[in-house]
Amino acid sequence: MQHKVTKAVFPVAGLGTRFLPATKSIPKEILTLVDRPLIQYAIDEAREAGITEFIFVTSRGKSALEDYFDRAPELEASLKAKNKTELLDIYDKTCMDSGAIAYVRQNQALGLGHAVWCARHLIGDEPFAVLLPDDVIAAEKPCLAQMIDAYADTGGNMVAAMEVPEAATSSYGILDVTASINPKLKVNGMVEKPEKGTAPSNLAAIGRYILSPQILKNLDGQQTGAGGEIQLTDAIAKEIETSDNVYGYRFQGQRFDCGTKAGFLQATVSFGLARADLRDELEDYIYDMMAMRQAAE
Ligand code: G1P
Repeated sequence: MQHKVTKAVFPVAGLGTRFLPATKSIPKEILTLVDRPLIQYAIDEAREAGITEFIFVTSRGKSALEDYFDRAPELEASLKAKNKTELLDIYDKTCMDSGAIAYVRQNQALGLGHAVWCARHLIGDEPFAVLLPDDVIAAEKPCLAQMIDAYADTGGNMVAAMEVPEAATSSYGILDVTASINPKLKVNGMVEKPEKGTAPSNLAAIGRYILSPQILKNLDGQQTGAGGEIQLTDAIAKEIETSDNVYGYRFQGQRFDCGTKAGFLQATVSFGLARADLRDELEDYIYDMMAMRQAAE
């Protein structure tokens, strides 16, 4: 019988240098999309998919992230005294139950595979999810919940997948798949950041995974791959060879690459426009700006 997926790993050890100088003193994951830190989107998505144990792989300088998920007694007391129920609701969602969240350190930046491997003792012998908080996915049904449903049929290992432009394939893990209209895809091979012109398809792995504990054993070898890093993609690819149980899942939803400034700005505008309290003002502003640009041309 298959285990229910209740644990998720959030690799958050990166330095966030693309967002300097902001990331000099705050972790990238605390940067806000409208009014919620990036990490909150990933946590909410995991919760909605039934995750109850959250494992953060952190590094030095990430203490703001740990504080964010704690209770803040002064703030709480002040909101209660003023009877600010709506804000208390928002605040409550940021507080994790005692023991629900665990932090392990990655003390050297050796790659995504290594970061996930750092969580091995907390995961044990169960399937687990991995969410990369840089990939923010707007969807009616959250991406990980879509995958959990599909995984109930397939078991094995599942990777979120999305078509990307040919020219962008060298920035992703790329899947070699048999053509299919089904959102579930059998993966025949996976290659991390293929050199230009060598990608087996234009179907990219996006930062949501459901993995078998065997992946952690595959990572024990600490083999380096693309960019000299220990790659999660390689550990998954090994499973294709040995167990032939890797699936891609073409999710419904819009993915934003919040690891880049342009992607972060696009997500900010899109999430702002999706908010009833901000839509009108923001829309007017965008129209005015476009009109001004056109008039100037
Ligand atoms: C990581 C993974 C890559 C995946 C990408 C999705 O790359 O290694 O396989 O396609 O996330 O965002 P990174 O963006 O950390 O370079």
